[in-house]
Amino acid sequence: MPSPKDRKHRIAVVLGTRPEAIKMAPVIEELRRRSDRFETIVITTSQQREMLAQALHAFHLKPDYDLGLTHENQTLAGFTARALIALTESFRDVVKPDLLLVQGDTSTVIAAALAAFYNGIPIGHIEAGLRSGDSRRPFPEEVNRRMASCVTDIHFAPTTRARDNLLAERVPGEHIYVTGNTIVDALASIRHDGVFDDKTLSNFGWDTKRVVLATVHRRENLGQNLRNVCAAFRRIVELHPHVEILIPVHLNPHVREILHGELRDVRGISMIEPLEYPDLIEVMRRSTLVLTDSGGIQEEAPAMHKPVLILRTVTERPEVIESGFGRLVGTDRDLIVGEASRLLTDPIAYRTMTEGKNPFGDGTAARQIADILTERFRIGRLFAAQMVDTTVPQH
Ligand code: UD1
Ligand code: UDP
Repeated sequence: MPSPKDRKHRIAVVLGTRPEAIKMAPVIEELRRRSDRFETIVITTSQQREMLAQALHAFHLKPDYDLGLTHENQTLAGFTARALIALTESFRDVVKPDLLLVQGDTSTVIAAALAAFYNGIPIGHIEAGLRSGDSRRPFPEEVNRRMASCVTDIHFAPTTRARDNLLAERVPGEHIYVTGNTIVDALASIRHDGVFDDKTLSNFGWDTKRVVLATVHRRENLGQNLRNVCAAFRRIVELHPHVEILIPVHLNPHVREILHGELRDVRGISMIEPLEYPDLIEVMRRSTLVLTDSGGIQEEAPAMHKPVLILRTVTERPEVIESGFGRLVGTDRDLIVGEASRLLTDPIAYRTMTEGKNPFGDGTAARQIADILTERFRIGRLFAAQMVDTTVPQH
């Protein structure tokens, strides 16, 4: 009879959005490679039904359970409430995991973390400790990840700065591990053969254009901020006739309405559907410059040695700026146009933004996370604090 320490440990991995799937894929793969020790169950909320499916496809991943919780025009409260209830029931009645793993700061993450907490399940949080210092930027992610930290037992911080943020919030150092960001592992695991799956991209005229990759979707940028960004895009292509701004448009209907309204039929601007991950990375490789408010794309830019102008006023990833690859330009039209023009016309300015070192690790984060989990299970140290007895109903 195997002792409880020797039996397989069941780990539930919960995913809701595109970036969670991309950044969690290397961890799932690493845990599944250790199938003698771990049983890894992937649960999806389908917070982003199409974009999540697209990201899972790129890594040949299939969920074990899809809760299918997406609604058209879902609200933060509506989705989070549905996810909290559905995940609570799934953990309690079906999956019964020994540990939950979540990644990042989405509604799915906070719902899953809280559901595990209520069920007395220990929680590992990947990409822990990012802080912008402004509770409304990014909204609501800054608060989601702070709340996630409150209930997390094992914190996987991507950088020493993220660890320091957690220490400053009195998270005990013995429960924080600096692993690098799993995005570096994800990037290393996909094909880099320079070929597009998407035929429109193959016929894009790469030899005659200088391409700027742009993405926007942050909630705090919707409305006038996003209109200002669109005005900046229009001005950039007006000033630089050989530049083409390529925008894979997020499926958020509020984002699409503004982008399509402001940028349709503008010469020099191409709006396309969300790309498969390897295609997005190939576009980035061929681009001169990246303009984005995305978290993941900010982290990929240093790995791809591309300068990135960050369409935000504060960042929880100051490492991108410190390493030289990034600059905060917010949503001010003139600032965006000025900085983009400088990089498009001044080779020295361009070079200074592309010579740094990737601050997000060496691509071994997933292996480190699996090693740490193996050890924590071995020594039976999963909870950060003494647990209450959850067999007694908690009121
Ligand atoms: C969410 C995350 C954000 C992350 C982003 C990644 C929260 C609070 N925010 O953004 O941190 O950067 O995902 O993209 O969780 N939609 C679809 N199909 C899709 C994707 C989206 O129809 O495949 C629709 C949704 O139904 C929803 C809207 O677009 O109505 C916005 O999607 P949502 O996941 O809520 O995005 P954000 O909260 O903006
Ligand atoms: N991405 C992708 N296809 C696209 C746009 C983005 O695969 O058309 C990838 C991108 O490379 C990064 C992740 O999706 O790894 C970022 O997702 P998003 O910007 O939606 O969310 P965030 O990172 O801001 O949370």
